[in-house]
Amino acid sequence: MEKPADTEYPIHDLLRRRWSPRAFGDRPIEPEMLLSLFEAARWAPSSNNQQPWRFLVAMKENKAEYDRLFNCLVEGNQTWAHRAPVLLLSVAELQFEDGSLNRHALHDTGMAVENLVIQATTLGLVAHQMAGFRIDQARGDCQIPDGYEPVAMIAVGYPGNPALLSDRLRAREVQPRVRKPVTEFVYSATWEQPLPLFR
Ligand SMILES: Cc1cc2nc3c(=O)[nH]c(=O)nc-3n(C[C@H](O)[C@H](O)[C@H](O)COP(=O)(O)O)c2cc1C
Repeated sequence: MEKPADTEYPIHDLLRRRWSPRAFGDRPIEPEMLLSLFEAARWAPSSNNQQPWRFLVAMKENKAEYDRLFNCLVEGNQTWAHRAPVLLLSVAELQFEDGSLNRHALHDTGMAVENLVIQATTLGLVAHQMAGFRIDQARGDCQIPDGYEPVAMIAVGYPGNPALLSDRLRAREVQPRVRKPVTEFVYSATWEQPLPLFR
């Protein structure tokens, strides 16, 4: 199923087509595709080229590892994410080498994830990011050291059949994708002053 964005202004087709489905197919992801996703993440820009992102990877073939990430998900996400063949956990390194705070660590980790998600779209895969997971459990079970922050779980796989979702989730799956209008979040160089372009 596709849900391309209904845009106000033209954007690249990949950006229109990326979305966050809950219906995943059972088909595993080919290893070379998975490697392409991480290569895409690798080339994200970052403050001071610090590359603060890390990815923990769990494939369904390895049940112990898959369950380790899966069991951290809140139940609402488990109900659909269990079909995804791969679960990722993005983690941000919070400090520079000299110990000072990297206040763009989460920003840059999100950039790497967006690269990964867009690469997934080019390969016919889908990815769904999740904030709904137990952070302390992930920290403990995955042995994430101090100074690193678990950021988001990401379910990755091939698109699946929405008919396999519960009635409630299927209804959400087919709802149109909505966004604020551009004018609501783009200002001139003074807070909340409209950009003349929009007048
Ligand atoms: C950081 C982040 C956390 C999210 N957490 C969840 C989540 O826990 N469960 C869920 O079903 N969707 C989650 N989403 C998906 C968003 O709800 C989704 O991106 C948003 O509704 C826009 O829809 P679209 O991605 O299809 O355009 C998350 C997305 C992001 C980027």
